[in-house]
Amino acid sequence: MKTLIKNIKELLQVRDIHIDKLEGSEMKNLPVIQNAYLLIENDNIKDYGSMMDCPSETAIDKVIDATGQTVLPTWVDSHTHLVYAGNRELEFVDRINGLSYEEIFERGGGILNSAKKLQETSEDDLYQQSSKRLEEIIKQGTGAVEIKSGYGLTLESELKMLRVIKRLKENYPVAIKATFLGAHAFPTKYKDNHQGYIDLLINEMIPAIAQENLANYIDAFLETGYFSVAETEKIMQAGQKYGLTPKIHVNQFTAIGGIKSCVENGALSVDHLEVVTEEDIEALKGSKTMPVALPTCSFFISIPYTPARKLLDAGLPLAIASDSNPGTTPSGNMNFVVATACIKMRMTPEEAINAATINGAYAMEVGTDYGSITKGKKASLIITKPLNSFYELPYAFGSNLIDKVILNGELQ
Ligand code: NIG
Ligand code: FE
Repeated sequence: MKTLIKNIKELLQVRDIHIDKLEGSEMKNLPVIQNAYLLIENDNIKDYGSMMDCPSETAIDKVIDATGQTVLPTWVDSHTHLVYAGNRELEFVDRINGLSYEEIFERGGGILNSAKKLQETSEDDLYQQSSKRLEEIIKQGTGAVEIKSGYGLTLESELKMLRVIKRLKENYPVAIKATFLGAHAFPTKYKDNHQGYIDLLINEMIPAIAQENLANYIDAFLETGYFSVAETEKIMQAGQKYGLTPKIHVNQFTAIGGIKSCVENGALSVDHLEVVTEEDIEALKGSKTMPVALPTCSFFISIPYTPARKLLDAGLPLAIASDSNPGTTPSGNMNFVVATACIKMRMTPEEAINAATINGAYAMEVGTDYGSITKGKKASLIITKPLNSFYELPYAFGSNLIDKVILNGELQ
C-alpha cells in the first residue's frame, strides 16, 4: 500500500539521519522542506523531498493533496496518567475558592481521592473511560504516549491499571509505554509506616508487575510530603533489578537534591522541574537524563513554569509532555502544551516542537520509530489545516488546526 502526500506547503522536522535528542542551542533548529511531497509505504515513511522530485502517481494507491497545509510528525507525549477513574472537578472549584494543591492533599483529596475512585471501578469500566481519552488525544495528533499507574496504591489496583494500559496498547495504533508509579503517595494506612509501604512496593508489587511484564519504567513522586530522596533511591534500585528504568516526578514544589540522585541512578528522565537550582543543572549536564517540563500542569494549578530558558541556556536538552491526569492537568492536548511552552516558558515554536517530538521520543525510548520525518520511521503524521506558517500552531492556541492524523500509515 502506497500513499503519496503532495503539495505540502511545509514539511517539518525533516531529519535525514536519526537523531537521538537535541540540546541547548540545537533546539532552535527545525529543518523544513517547502513545497514538499512525502511517500508512505505500508506503515513507514518511504521517501520525501521537494515537489520538483515528486514520484509519478501511477503506482500510488492513495493521493492526498496538502496544498497550503503543513505536515509534521505526530506528538510524542512522554508523561501522562491517562488511565484514571472519574475526575476531580470539585477540587478544581476548591482551588478557585483559595485552597492550594497541597492543602487539598492534606485534607485527604488529591491522589488519594483518585485512588479511592479507581479502587471502586471495575477494570472494564476503567478501560472504557481511558479509551475515550486515548481516542481524544489521537484526534489531537498524539502518536506515542507514556502512561503511568499510581492511582491504585494496592497490588490489586495497580495491576488493574497496568492491565488497562496493556489493553490500550493492544487495541490502538499508538505506541504506548507503561510506567509503574506505585510510589505516587503513601496510602492512609501507611501514613505513619512508610517502610511498610516501601516493603510492599519492593517485595510484592514490583515482582508481580515484572512477572506479568506490565511495565517498562519505574516512577516515584519525589517531593516534600511524598517520597524522600532516600525512599525514592530504594524504589529506583528495586525497579532496576527487574529491568524497570527510572522516570521520576521531581522538583514540582521543592528542590531537595532529588535530581542529582535520579541522574546517579540512571534515570531516563526527570519530570516537572518547576523549581530548579544551580546544583540540579550541574547534575544534569553531560548526563543521559532528559529533563521534561509539563507546562499545562503549571497552567492548571497556577504554579511556576519550568525555567526552560535557564535549562536551554545551560546547554541542556528539554522535552515537554502533557501530564494528562485528573488532578493537575485534565487535558492531554499536546497542541496546547506546545502553545503554553511558547507563551509561558518563552520557548520558540522551533524549540517547543523539537521538545514535543524528538526529545519526547528520547524520554520514552521510541526514537527509532517516532519523533521526526526520517526514512524508515513510522508514518505517524499530522496534516494541519491551511496555515500561513507553522508559527500559527502555538499562536492560535485555542483553535483546532489539525485536518488529518495518520498513524502507522493509516488515516485516522
Ligand atoms: O504529575 N505530581 C504528581 N503527580 C501528578 C498529579 C497527581 C494528582 O494530583 O492526581 C502530576 O502532576
Ligand atoms: Fe505526572
